[in-house]
Amino acid sequence: MTDRFSFTLHATDGKARTGTIHTPRGEIRTPAFMPVGTAATVKAMLPESVRATGADILLGNTYHLMLRPTAERIARLGGLHRFMNWDRPILTDSGGFQVMSLAALRKLTEEGVRFSSHIDGSKHMLSPERSMEIQKLLGSDIVMCFDECPALPATEEVVAQSMRLSMRWAQRSRDAFGDRPGHALFGIQQGGVTEDLRGESAEALKAIGFDGYAVGGLAVGEGQETMFSVLDYAPGMLPADKPRYLMGVGKPDDIVGAVQRGIDMMDCVLPSRSGRTGQAWTRRGQVNIKNARHMDDPRPLDEACTCPACRSYSRAYLHHVFRAGEIIASMLLTWHNLHYYHELMEGLRGAIRAGTLDAFVADFHAQRAAGDI
Ligand code: GUN
Ligand code: ZN
Repeated sequence: MTDRFSFTLHATDGKARTGTIHTPRGEIRTPAFMPVGTAATVKAMLPESVRATGADILLGNTYHLMLRPTAERIARLGGLHRFMNWDRPILTDSGGFQVMSLAALRKLTEEGVRFSSHIDGSKHMLSPERSMEIQKLLGSDIVMCFDECPALPATEEVVAQSMRLSMRWAQRSRDAFGDRPGHALFGIQQGGVTEDLRGESAEALKAIGFDGYAVGGLAVGEGQETMFSVLDYAPGMLPADKPRYLMGVGKPDDIVGAVQRGIDMMDCVLPSRSGRTGQAWTRRGQVNIKNARHMDDPRPLDEACTCPACRSYSRAYLHHVFRAGEIIASMLLTWHNLHYYHELMEGLRGAIRAGTLDAFVADFHAQRAAGDI
């Protein structure tokens, strides 16, 4: 245990890194995958079950929690960790990205964003200062800068103006965050798919100085090839001795490619969301358990998986509970998906430490190419 936030690198293999983020609430093994607990819950999972799948840290959302049940109420009830019964680290996104995708009637100015709630239409404001205040009320361990991510497709001029606004907001976020030992503030690089703008953004963030650096504005519909082309240079623009976080990514093959390019942390709703719609992720790729071919299949989803869904239930049972709309269907498949994701992260960490990442990645792709059993 430590009362400060720090990052230790253990090994590198090519551009890939493995290390440990130390926080007063526990260690985060990197590369790390962060399950998303938007509304103070990872849907369909108890926190102890999420931990059992291998999670060191969860992601929470400023936007959702400020609207319901409100940050002030969570603070009165002892903070987000106590409220949701998760005592390990929590990273909170700052709200800007969610406002742009979810809220109605947004008005963006230099000051911040005024918007109407997607829940009840009530009027709210988010600014760098208010986002820092909310994330402090929640008791977040890793606080994200308040930023803006333009809707794509956008012209380079629009992306440039948006990135420069986000960099002014990054300075205001830094000033408002102040000095909070044990808590970290991460900057967010923007700049779309333009290398010069990514470079300008990285320089602006480094001049301000953060505890970690995120790559934002990706996985917004540009496609994997374009995303990887940005990740070929963007992580290298950020300080090597600080964690690098790719926001909102992704599918298992996105994660592997991002780690190969020097990313240390990721988050995505995919394993939990697809668990609720009958999509399983396995070594052999994606499996839709609702498909009729599973109806009479006594075998587990993945005979090599040690999660409760695979140890104790057949494909036929999982198929049945999904078709019947039973709650256990979401629980079992979410558990399996999070278990698979964290096993993948453990495999990546081990391979980087051993210097065998290329062979690990080749095997990852070969198993997927073989297809589902
Ligand atoms: N989640 C996914 N992408 C982004 C981004 O660019 N900014 C923020 N704040 N959150 C994100
Ligand atoms: Zn499983």
